[in-house]
Amino acid sequence: MFSNAFQGKTVWISGHTGFKGAWLAQWLLKMGAHVHGFAQPPVTTPALFDQLGLVKLIGHEIGDVRDAAAVKKSLLRAQPDFVFHLAAQALVRYSYEHPLETYATNVMGTAHVLESLRSLEKPCAAVIITTDKCYENREQDYAYAEEDPLGGHDPYSSSKGAAELVISAYRRSFFGKSPVRIASARAGNVIGGGDWALDRIVPDCIRALQRGEAIPVRNSHATRPWQHVLEPLSGYLWLAARLAGKNANATLAAAFNFGPEKEANRNVAELVGEILKSWPGRWDDQSDPHAHHEAKLLMLSTDKAKKVLQWQSAWKFETAIANTVNWYRGVNENAANARSLTLQQIAGYEAAARAAKTMWALM
Ligand SMILES: NC(=O)c1ccc[n+]([C@@H]2O[C@H](COP(=O)([O-])OP(=O)(O)OC[C@H]3O[C@@H](n4cnc5c(N)ncnc54)[C@H](O)[C@@H]3O)[C@@H](O)[C@H]2O)c1
Repeated sequence: MFSNAFQGKTVWISGHTGFKGAWLAQWLLKMGAHVHGFAQPPVTTPALFDQLGLVKLIGHEIGDVRDAAAVKKSLLRAQPDFVFHLAAQALVRYSYEHPLETYATNVMGTAHVLESLRSLEKPCAAVIITTDKCYENREQDYAYAEEDPLGGHDPYSSSKGAAELVISAYRRSFFGKSPVRIASARAGNVIGGGDWALDRIVPDCIRALQRGEAIPVRNSHATRPWQHVLEPLSGYLWLAARLAGKNANATLAAAFNFGPEKEANRNVAELVGEILKSWPGRWDDQSDPHAHHEAKLLMLSTDKAKKVLQWQSAWKFETAIANTVNWYRGVNENAANARSLTLQQIAGYEAAARAAKTMWALM
């Protein structure tokens, strides 16, 4: 898998205490990588980072990406072969309350990682994670492609659009002859076991179901490209592996979308309905006419990832939801199941990708 690119290699991840970072760290450990994480402490109880016991398995460093010197010290000490920058203030509604914190973390945090990479005098493939929300959303039935204009209505989305501009400027200004290669990755809304963030629909569903209460749904008509967390992670890993390869060229040191097939563009009501098939319960429409603006329609084109990386999604919408809910139900029955369920689902996803003949799974 992934051309065995990660076996015995050093990988620096920012944001390893978060939802996606913890899954990524676990997958890299399974592939024999030495993982070094840099992030803030987990903010939720429970947190996937704790449930997987990652503190004992990886180099775990508490730090702030807003602190340029701390980022540089950590990254240069690790001397990584690969970098995945995921640390971010990742919540749209929180960004309305804390715009300056969001810009400082997402824009300057990204600049600090790039600035540190300038001082790394060895080959390194770096994938910087932004989001599908970095595009100027026209609220049309249209799938955004990598060359579409960046933008963003709210502080979170625009901070990620701004981060993309910073990445592009740094790449063109400073990395032309550098052994460090840099790509960015834009994925849609991810779901999966172990997301405990406040204010996200799947964790909200699980918390309500655990308590036997109706699920509060505030945006039932909003449509998103839902995908299991392992889908974009496979894209990030394969992009990094290809970027580190001998024949990597400028086509790879670029921006890539990783999204689901069109069938997985569903609204929140459909998502909740599918969750209730695996964990029966009820939901309550709590749409607030005075709520802050959130995008209603958002779709991603993955033509470039398909063409250049031969990457494709491996789990259908229903499979992604079933795995997500099974994870939470298993952990609800016995908290000690978290690690084994996570590893089982990674193995299941790898098998599905092999069956779908996705390139990374065959190499
Ligand atoms: N979850 C999604 O649906 C989704 C969709 C598209 C893109 N993304 C992006 O993927 C990345 C990971 O998202 P997630 O869902 O795992 O988020 P998360 O909130 O679960 O985790 C965020 C991580 O960033 C770290 N972090 C936050 N502020 C920091 C700071 N100042 N210094 C150091 N570390 C800091 C946290 O400690 C945590 O480890 C983010 O860049 C996010 O914007 C997420």
